[in-house]
Amino acid sequence: MNLNEYKKAVAQLNLYSYHYYVLDDPITTDEVYDKLYHEVVEYEEQNPDDMLKDSPTQRVGDIVSDGFTKAKHLSRMWSLEDVFDSEGLQKWLTKTYKLDKNISFYCEPKFDGASLNLIYENGELSQGITRGDGEIGELITQNIKTIRSVPLTIEHKETIEIRGEVVIFKDEFDKINEQRLKEGEAVFANPRNAAAGSLRQLDSSITASRNLVFLPYGVGVNSLEHKLLSQKMEYIYSLGFRRPPNSSTCQGYNEIEEIYEVMNRNRDGYAMMLDGMVVKVNEIAAQIDMGYTVKNPRFSVAYKFPAVEKITRVKDIILQVGRTGAVTPVAIVEPTDIDGVVVERATLHNFDEIDRKDIRLNDKVIILRSGDVIPKIIKVLTHERDGSEVEYQRPTSCPVCNSELLDEGVLLKCQNLTCEARVINSIYYFASKSCLNIDGLGTKIVEALFNSGLVRSVLDLFDLTLDKLLTLEGFKDKKAQNLLDSLENAKGSEYWRFVNSLGIEHVGEVASKTLSENFGSNFINTSKEEIIALEGIGEEMAESVLEFVRVNRETILKLQEILQPLEPTKKAEAKENPFKGKTAVLTGTMSESRGAIKEMLESLGAKVSGSVSKKTDFLIYGEDAGSKYDKAMDLGVECLTEQEMREKIE
Ligand code: IVH
Repeated sequence: MNLNEYKKAVAQLNLYSYHYYVLDDPITTDEVYDKLYHEVVEYEEQNPDDMLKDSPTQRVGDIVSDGFTKAKHLSRMWSLEDVFDSEGLQKWLTKTYKLDKNISFYCEPKFDGASLNLIYENGELSQGITRGDGEIGELITQNIKTIRSVPLTIEHKETIEIRGEVVIFKDEFDKINEQRLKEGEAVFANPRNAAAGSLRQLDSSITASRNLVFLPYGVGVNSLEHKLLSQKMEYIYSLGFRRPPNSSTCQGYNEIEEIYEVMNRNRDGYAMMLDGMVVKVNEIAAQIDMGYTVKNPRFSVAYKFPAVEKITRVKDIILQVGRTGAVTPVAIVEPTDIDGVVVERATLHNFDEIDRKDIRLNDKVIILRSGDVIPKIIKVLTHERDGSEVEYQRPTSCPVCNSELLDEGVLLKCQNLTCEARVINSIYYFASKSCLNIDGLGTKIVEALFNSGLVRSVLDLFDLTLDKLLTLEGFKDKKAQNLLDSLENAKGSEYWRFVNSLGIEHVGEVASKTLSENFGSNFINTSKEEIIALEGIGEEMAESVLEFVRVNRETILKLQEILQPLEPTKKAEAKENPFKGKTAVLTGTMSESRGAIKEMLESLGAKVSGSVSKKTDFLIYGEDAGSKYDKAMDLGVECLTEQEMREKIE
């Protein structure tokens, strides 16, 4: 690669990235991107002086700082006046029209994240500053550079401040919290906290890993001459910023209300959390005329959506018994209207959570409902206690079958296999999407089948007939026949679904797939050693499988006879080679995409896993190898460069 080709490659990578992160419309594959990226890295290593400011290698986030310095915004970052209902909006409009009658409005969602000021000088991102107190914030430029929707350079040479909200999409937020739970870390209460926390990481590689998104909503210091805010924003998007969803211009009260109604109704459908709609005067001249109060601009207002956080009181804590016997506490709260939904329960996750948050009966608490997830208690208002609160006592017996509970600290367990709650939930689980995916077996129907005595175990499902089903309330011909058809369709499903549907404790979808791929129907005849040897399966899981098989061998065989799940086909046996039967982990940038290298190793009979553990035989690393490399070194795992791997194969 020569300098010219290098420049072209950087531009090409930035174009790919723009399509992916800004337009949300990818134009290439990871493989093509990775290959070109690797060439750019190589060129930069050999010619560090040629490094371009907007090279994607500037975004990797390998900088760890020991604290943030303060920085002054070029112009103040204001806050917004809030209104909560039509009356509030009308008052604001009356005030605003008094200042200027000839105005129109620009409406856009109010994103619930962390506000950020980006300063560009000579077309380069020079500073990224948190809002702070509006005058001075924290300088977090290194972290900001890892956000792919923040352009590192723009085609605008005069100094400009671009303001916007940094958000985490809801699906990403769930992933982060899932991961944190797994690793025993405290979960983030909401995407806003997660976004703000991610921005303030001293290690920018953590920020890089969070998939933050920057949504511009305005400018600070600027020399733009557009007459309308809507034109200014169009110009900002044209510089390479991501266009937030659903902005529109409109006239007057009725139209604003209409846009607000639709946005509020659809708020759950947005990728990010919204907490309202911002209404702004569209005419820049009018904006300048109107000016500011001590805190807020007079030309815009936040029309908030009905709160998703509400204060209520804990009336009771009830217990639910799951299919594994795990007992989960659920708070019953005073019915509270959140956003049109009356909330009466909130999850408490487990008994540790009750202790950690010190939740007592009759406590006043803040509950949060976001989207369609089950509401949760995010805070106890301990300062409002009046002595009427009662500490919660852990139960000692199962609320359903009354047998004694096993206390495992975090979890309490009902050990009675015939406990009604356990049976009903395991039938429901058996039919669920990640198991046999049998339509028509929701909780209500499973309960009815169980209570009528028709179904006392999953095996009974397959003895159901039209006549039997028609004896149940609410079952007419069509519904009964549909259920029988779905049961019939469950036959011949993939083998892992069968394994998963058994509900073996600690064995989820991934482990079910591993067991199926390796043993098929022979999984009931394997030894602990054979099972533990599989990547991703530990001692606890292996023991659980063996114990389950010991107790339920007959049932498994009968079910298998009925369901005839498909035996997985074995891959052709690989020739002898140093990687056969070994587990490898790949990290860093290689000469080919990691997918291609994975495929090659798998064809040699190796397993390629995503994370390094004691069971890893080889770590194969490319450029920019990160924490996996360190971990492998710590564990004494043999580390090979890509070249060394290839030599070994030959
Ligand atoms: S305009 C005068 N537009 O809400 C301040 N702000 O409550 C300019 N926010 O600090 C704000 N989405 O961080 C504006 N579409 C949007 C917004 C938005 C979120 C945040 C912003 C601001 C806060 C004020």
